[in-house]
Amino acid sequence: MTQVIAVTSGKGGVGKTTLSANLGAALNDMGKKVLVVDTNITTPNLGFHLGVPLYPKTIHDVLKGEAYPEEATYIHPTGLNIMPAGISITDMKSCDGTGLDNMILDLVGEHDVILLDGAAGLGKEGLSSIKAADEMIIVTNPQLASVTDALKAVKMGEEMGTHIIGVVLNRKTGKPSDLTIEEVEALLGHPVISNIHENDEVQDALASKTPVVHYAPDSKASHEIKRLASSLIGQEYNVPEENNKIGLFSKLFGFFRR
Ligand SMILES: Nc1ncnc2c1ncn2[C@@H]1O[C@H](COP(=O)(O)OP(=O)(O)O)[C@@H](O)[C@H]1O
Ligand SMILES: [Mg+2]
Repeated sequence: MTQVIAVTSGKGGVGKTTLSANLGAALNDMGKKVLVVDTNITTPNLGFHLGVPLYPKTIHDVLKGEAYPEEATYIHPTGLNIMPAGISITDMKSCDGTGLDNMILDLVGEHDVILLDGAAGLGKEGLSSIKAADEMIIVTNPQLASVTDALKAVKMGEEMGTHIIGVVLNRKTGKPSDLTIEEVEALLGHPVISNIHENDEVQDALASKTPVVHYAPDSKASHEIKRLASSLIGQEYNVPEENNKIGLFSKLFGFFRR
């Protein structure tokens, strides 16, 4: 059965594309057939994250009925299947996400997991990925403005009947101004299923156009993303202790949140 998961948020720039590309790469490494779809119709960037900004056919052509989904699906060197979005102004003006749900329905059965890299906000394109997915992950940063915007995405998911798997708290810095996990959970009413710290390697990986799970597989962020990927498919992930003091700490004290 295909899991269709939207990676969504209220605000832009919180880490949706980073998470989509890396969860995809991690799941692919775990032997799953994964497709990551750029559903940012007006502000696409999955192609940039993976180092290939230009593709002959894109999701725009599929949504316009001018290409089959297979023609706009590419195998990235990592083995991951990706469906990028077109980056021309004409492309951006020509679609608004209408038809995404039907396109995804056609792809069900072809992949183990389909990740929809969602658009920020709750305009038509943001909603189209929530509507097309069975489940969603809410990404937020630990600032109040980001969390209050995430709440709108939560409400929308609840209203549309899309199951909310949980919240990914990304870019936690440890500064006193960061909201705590408990505060984020209280505000959003859903559990924080992953806590990814601010990590320089994530930015270095983006600069080198490689998912951080490959660029720096032993970084804290990579282990956390791989742990999340495992949990999405019901598997356990053991962080090698020599690489992750937190893994040891969690084991000793029996708690996994930090
Ligand atoms: N955990 C992290 N640590 C450091 N930088 C991060 C982290 N997550 C994301 N970023 C950076 O934040 C920026 C926005 O991320 P992106 O995934 O494009 O956000 P979105 O898709 O939500 O707009 C990128 O420059 C990315 O490298
Ligand atoms: Mg993005």
